[in-house]
Amino acid sequence: MIDTDTVGGLMLAEHIQGRLGQAPEPAYRFPLGYSTWGAEEVLAALDCLCDQRTTMWTKTLAFEEQFADYLGEGQHAVMVNSGSSADLVTMLAAREMGILKPGDEILIPAVTWPTQVWSAIQAGFNVRLVDVRPSTLNTSAEILEAAITPKTKAIFLVHLMGNPCDMDSIRLLADQLGLFLFEDCCEALGATYDGHKVGTFGYAATFSFFASHHISTMEGGMIVTDDRDFADQCRLMRAHGWARDLKDRITDVSTLQRYGCTEDPRYLFLGMGFNFRPTELNAEIGRIQLGKLDAMNAHRERNSKHVDLHFRCTNGHFIEGLNVNYKARPAWFALPFILREGLPYTRQQVFDYLKACDVDTRPIVGGNLARHPAFWKYREIAAGQLAGADAIHSRGFYIGLPPIETSMDSLTGILNGIDSNLRFAA
Ligand SMILES: Cc1ncc(COP(=O)(O)O)c(C=O)c1O
Repeated sequence: MIDTDTVGGLMLAEHIQGRLGQAPEPAYRFPLGYSTWGAEEVLAALDCLCDQRTTMWTKTLAFEEQFADYLGEGQHAVMVNSGSSADLVTMLAAREMGILKPGDEILIPAVTWPTQVWSAIQAGFNVRLVDVRPSTLNTSAEILEAAITPKTKAIFLVHLMGNPCDMDSIRLLADQLGLFLFEDCCEALGATYDGHKVGTFGYAATFSFFASHHISTMEGGMIVTDDRDFADQCRLMRAHGWARDLKDRITDVSTLQRYGCTEDPRYLFLGMGFNFRPTELNAEIGRIQLGKLDAMNAHRERNSKHVDLHFRCTNGHFIEGLNVNYKARPAWFALPFILREGLPYTRQQVFDYLKACDVDTRPIVGGNLARHPAFWKYREIAAGQLAGADAIHSRGFYIGLPPIETSMDSLTGILNGIDSNLRFAA
């Protein structure tokens, strides 16, 4: 490690800290994402370069163990190069292990990031997009139950914007009907339901460490599961189908040798594989970021409560209410809002107003995915009534939520001015 207790090491750390302070200003005063890297992250990356061990190695293993410990409950963690790769490897591994078969139907909420849906399509499954409730941004057991067909074999949930789904009723439904449950937690690292972290309720779960997510490793993602074999299947697929990456590889190879396999164990391939490996730099930065996660999530929680108290609570005439399950503790990814129907101004005018006030905005991820041309092309994708997803699609938006200690007064002041300014202009 670069030793920051030495004069040279300390000077380097100070220099990096100063240099971070000179990074280009965000385009907006209130951006979507905030940089949370300090000199520690940059020094850790430099250290990997100095070691000349930049490709996946022991630091990745260490981060995986730290991540599994963070989630608790006997999870195994497999790091990949993005949240999308985590979704894809999860679906492919489910097929490879025979948990799901080609043609099986998976229910996925219609408001999510597109790669969650593509992961299931690429693995050969059919997807039924299910509706979501604008009041929670999530699907529910009732919606899921109504969408189930004889071909449905799994549910791939998403805890949108960091708000946990109602896991009691969804777990019960999955258990009663023998459906496999997967969780996309790419927007929800650190959120809990009934005291358990999201990502521990299903058979496997995925996380993203892209910039502006709860932790950032540049690019990066993680698969977690409590099934050791499933984790090994993911490890195989992450790296070429190569036996050497299995956790229990020695036993595994010696078993194969007993059955007559004479291949050189250093180059032994056991299954279909890709290259979705992270680098050591991503993993080492992840270790430092994970150490800061609880503090950053505490800031997210405090800042979003401030907005609830000083804006959301008193502006029900133009924004809809947002519900959190009484057992859930969200780890808000951003600040989502749904405009009420029938306002005398449009969502675009709200975007323009906020832009003029230096606040960056986005629709709530893809909105209703069924409305995007990419999703019209595939007969493997079915969708029923998606009225809730449509409401989010046409009236929802989000702004950034700072994971740092900061005053939220100016931002809530701007938000409080939306309705009166736009009504007056109309
Ligand atoms: C719900 C969800 N799933 C998957 C992803 C994909 O993650 P990545 O950007 O790391 O590929 C994202 C990205 O924002 C996401 O929000």
